[in-house]
Amino acid sequence: MGSPASTAVAAVVVVLLCGASARAQDMDKEWARPPYRGFFGAPGSMLPQSDVDLLEFPLNLEYLETEFFCWSALGYGLDAIDANLTGGGPPSIGGQSASLTPFVRDVATQFCYQEVGHLRAIKQTVRGFPRPLLDISAANFGKIIEQALNATLDPPFNPYENSVNFLIASYIIPYVGLTGYVGANPKLLTPQARKLLAGLLGVESAQDAVIRTLLYERGMTRLASYGVGVAEVTAHISDLRNALGRRGVKDEGLVVAPGQGPEGVTVGNVIAGDHLSLAYDRTPEEILGIVYGTGNPTQHGGFFPQGADGRIARGFLV
Ligand SMILES: *[C@@H]1O[C@H](CO)[C@@H](O)[C@H](O)[C@H]1NC(C)=O
Ligand SMILES: *[C@@H]1O[C@H](CO)[C@@H](O)[C@H](O)[C@H]1NC(C)=O
Repeated sequence: MGSPASTAVAAVVVVLLCGASARAQDMDKEWARPPYRGFFGAPGSMLPQSDVDLLEFPLNLEYLETEFFCWSALGYGLDAIDANLTGGGPPSIGGQSASLTPFVRDVATQFCYQEVGHLRAIKQTVRGFPRPLLDISAANFGKIIEQALNATLDPPFNPYENSVNFLIASYIIPYVGLTGYVGANPKLLTPQARKLLAGLLGVESAQDAVIRTLLYERGMTRLASYGVGVAEVTAHISDLRNALGRRGVKDEGLVVAPGQGPEGVTVGNVIAGDHLSLAYDRTPEEILGIVYGTGNPTQHGGFFPQGADGRIARGFLV
């Protein structure tokens, strides 16, 4: 028989052990939830909340890029490629197969599957959220180009109509993701998060460079219906993004004013960058203003008729 004191100690120990084991079970359950499955293979489950938020935010753009590139290249989107990755989100509005040269379709197909990979990479690291409602309709792109050119276009601009239009529409998208990754990088706390982000940024900026190079080659080509050169259109799109981002110049077309190219030497500007040719950065607030087309992260619209998802974007919408 133990003394009352030792019995009390034993009871405390039992309580502590039970408590510990209950906590361990809770943690097991926690880790068994979808994004935590295979805990040791998913270091993201140990990320601080701020890293989780910063890695989840770009899912919005990666979903958008996936849907636009896959629909354009293949005539179907994420639902037909891996429905699991949609997380049950609604189908995108207005996706369609684009009329492309075999070469541009080949490139677009690669972009499509690169984006699918990015979705997997992010979702293997953080829980994420289902695909938000996306508007990738010709009408939405048409509105953006009209806004950029400050003109009513007849016939309306259609990104799915030919390769040049598709490339111009593509000019609109990965660059925004690129600036977001540059902006997020210094805010990340863990090496795991920074490693993922660098991987995403590298490919995102490569996509942007390919798009810009293909457009640069066609810089002086005039869009038949509108009489405006391709390089001029890119400058207008960049001006529009600068206006919507509301934080000065972080975006430049394919040709810039004398003194504004790399080292102030060239007017050709195949890759955008600041006076040291470093990539520009944007905050989630700036990015939301741009992709909503409203210049305001609290006013959704544009590509995201019901707003973007994740804690950062939702925080602006309450
Ligand atoms: C989708 O998820 C289900 C259930 O987890 C799984 O059985 C299936 O293989 C997944 N499909 C793909 C294409 O990954
Ligand atoms: C857009 O066009 C209208 C009418 O043509 C003009 O009044 C306005 O100043 C233009 N806006 C910009 C930003 O150029």
